[in-house]
Parts: sequence; structure tokens; C-alpha cells
Amino acid sequence: MRGKLTAVPSLFLDTLRKEHTDIPPIWLMRQAGRYLPEYRALRAQAKDFVDFCFSPRLAAEATLQPIRRYDFDAAILFADILLIPYAMGQDLTFPEGEGPRLPALMDGFDGVFNDMASTIDVLEPVFETVARVKQDLPESKALIGFAGAPWTVATYMIRGRGGENHADVREWAYRHPERFEALLDDLVAATSAYLSRQIEAGADAIQLFDTWAGGLPEKAFERWCIQPVRQIADTLRKKHPSTPIIGFPKSVGSLALNYVESTSVDGLGLDFGVPLEWARDVLAPHAVLQGNLDPVVLAVGGDRLTAEIDHILHTLEGMPYIFNLGHGILPHTPPEHVELLIDRVRGGPR
Ligand code: CP3
Repeated sequence: MRGKLTAVPSLFLDTLRKEHTDIPPIWLMRQAGRYLPEYRALRAQAKDFVDFCFSPRLAAEATLQPIRRYDFDAAILFADILLIPYAMGQDLTFPEGEGPRLPALMDGFDGVFNDMASTIDVLEPVFETVARVKQDLPESKALIGFAGAPWTVATYMIRGRGGENHADVREWAYRHPERFEALLDDLVAATSAYLSRQIEAGADAIQLFDTWAGGLPEKAFERWCIQPVRQIADTLRKKHPSTPIIGFPKSVGSLALNYVESTSVDGLGLDFGVPLEWARDVLAPHAVLQGNLDPVVLAVGGDRLTAEIDHILHTLEGMPYIFNLGHGILPHTPPEHVELLIDRVRGGPR
């Protein structure tokens, strides 16, 4: 246990608490994943991806692999944002090379969702994964727990699959406002309970992924993204006041200001489309920034990569921030590029 008086300093947590402004901590979204040969070998041991996420031994190992290889400052729990719909009672599969599939509400799926106790019960193996990781993780490394934000999770539940354009999901939400609001409320309750249990099992910080928050009309963004995240953050703060929360509302442009002001998240994940100077001047007073290297640039490497790393280091120099990508690492990224990235970030601006 990390006791108050004997605490080993954590660069990641100290930065999130604005107590550190020197070299930024670094971790990468999807740092455990197919770009690593050891991940692919581990993945082959599981029946399918859902089974992988619900096998504490395999999931804990996947969480720790990138820490061993690269010495990142934080580990992120190996799980998936779609485990909540699965636990609520919506079947979930990942057909090879196709992404997630669920029985869509839009296509008439009207199964009765599990009550909260049964939902959390299904998620028990995830808490065991957290506890296992916590045991094996060096004390100076933080463990990030996570969940999808309700809107993003709802898009998969409603349409049954991913995709960039959500006009059909918005249309369903506008046509069935009561069902949609009830769904958001259910997700707020389940996500709050799920994250609270992750913290109790040992997670040091929480990240909420709102991958599909971009492109919503302002009022919809406020009701569908900001309000649920604020409700979850309020619940977590009451129970676990010292656990920092990072929000990642992807591709929301200037609405990020409303998001940080209204949700009071401690950290804000920036996608690669956010102008960094603007984020520094306008958003950083409200939350510690995290981001925002383009994962495509990391995959390509070379001079472009070093120039873009240096740009981030220079722009945010002297303020607390967390180095990360603007979205998840791509499966074809050469592992050596990640090593180069970490060395350059730790070497400081040049
Ligand atoms: O970041 C990490 O290393 C922790 C683990 C993690 C995964 N998914 C593992 C995963 C996290 C934080 C997620 C979040 C997640 N999952 C999001 C939000 C972040 C984002 O990327 O936008 C979303 C939208 C999902 C849903 C999801 N899961 C999709 C769309 C896919 C298929 C796409 C793909 O990359 O195959 C997944 C599967 C998934 N989740 C994989 C991993 C490592 C790949 C599965 C495999 O190994 O075959």
C-alpha cells in the first residue's frame, strides 16, 4: 500500500497534482497492444478478446508488458470500454479484423439490462486484474483505471458497432429521448460503481475515454458528454477525493473549454487536432494537459517525429503536463520508435 508518510514519489501523480513541472511523465494510449510481439503472443493464449479481458492473469500481464519494456511512468489497466455493455447483458464479440459487434438497440435489441449488482458481479475479474497489477507494479509507477464515457459507450450499444459518423445514433437519440436518457443514466450509475471498485482495488487515477464526443451540436454535447462525466466525477470525488480524474473528450475543438470548466476533471487528454498553444493558454489553467502527438507520426518516425516531439516539449515547457499521443498507438508502429520517443522526452527540450 502507498501510505501517506512513506509514499514513494510518482512523477505521474505528482504532475497531475501540479506538484511537478520539470520533465513530463509519459505513457501512451493503447501502450499494451498489437504493435508489441509479446502482446500478440499473450493474446494467442486467450479464446477471444473478451475472454482475454476477463482473464486476470493474462490481462495483468498485458498491463505490465509495456512497463517492463519501456519503463513508462504509468500503466493502464488492460480491459475495454465495452465490458460495461457486456456486463449489463448485451452480447459482445470482436470478429477477426472487424472491430466490436453488439446487438444494436437501433435494430430492435430490447433485452432487459441486468441490475447493478449483477452488472458489477460480471466485472469482478477486472478488479482482480487491478489488484494483481498493483502488487507487481513498482511503487513509483501509477496505475490508471479507465472506462468509456457514457456517450461513447452508448454509440456502440445503439448502433452495435463503431464508425466515424454518428448521424444515425444522434437520430435514434432524438427520436427516442426517454430511452436514450435512461440509457445514459444507467451508464452513469454502472460506470461510477465500476470505477469506484477499480480505485478500491488499487487504481491510482482514472481516465474517461469519450472517443466520439466530437462533432456533436453544443447542446447535445452538454447533455450527452459533459453532464454524465460530471455526474461520474462528482460520485468518485465524494468516495475517493484524492484520486485524480482525466477526461479525454476527443475532437471537440473549442468545446474543450466548457468541458474542463464544467466537469472539473484534473487532467485533460488532448487529441492531435488541438492547437497546442491555444490549449496551453486557454485550457491549462483549468486542468493538467495530456497529449497530443499524432500516432501516425509515431508510426512513420524519422525527422518528422523528432520535430513534433520537440514542438510539444517546447510549447509546454515549464508547466505540469503529461506526454502522450493524441489517440491510441497504431498496430503497425515499430516498437523502436516508442523507445526513441521516450528517450527524447526524458532528455528534455532541445
Ligand atoms: O490503452 C491501453 O493499452 C489499455 C487497454 C485499452 C483497450 N481498449 C484494449 C484493446 C483501452 C484503454 C481501450 C479503450 C477503448 N476501446 C476505446 C477508447 C479509446 C480509443 O481507442 O478510442 C474504444 C473506442 C474501444 C473499443 C474497441 N476495442 C475497439 C473499437 C476495438 C477494435 C479496434 C482495434 O484496435 O482492434 C477494440 C479492441 C481492443 N481493445 C484491442 C485492444 C488492445 C485490440 C484487440 C486485439 O488485440 O485484437
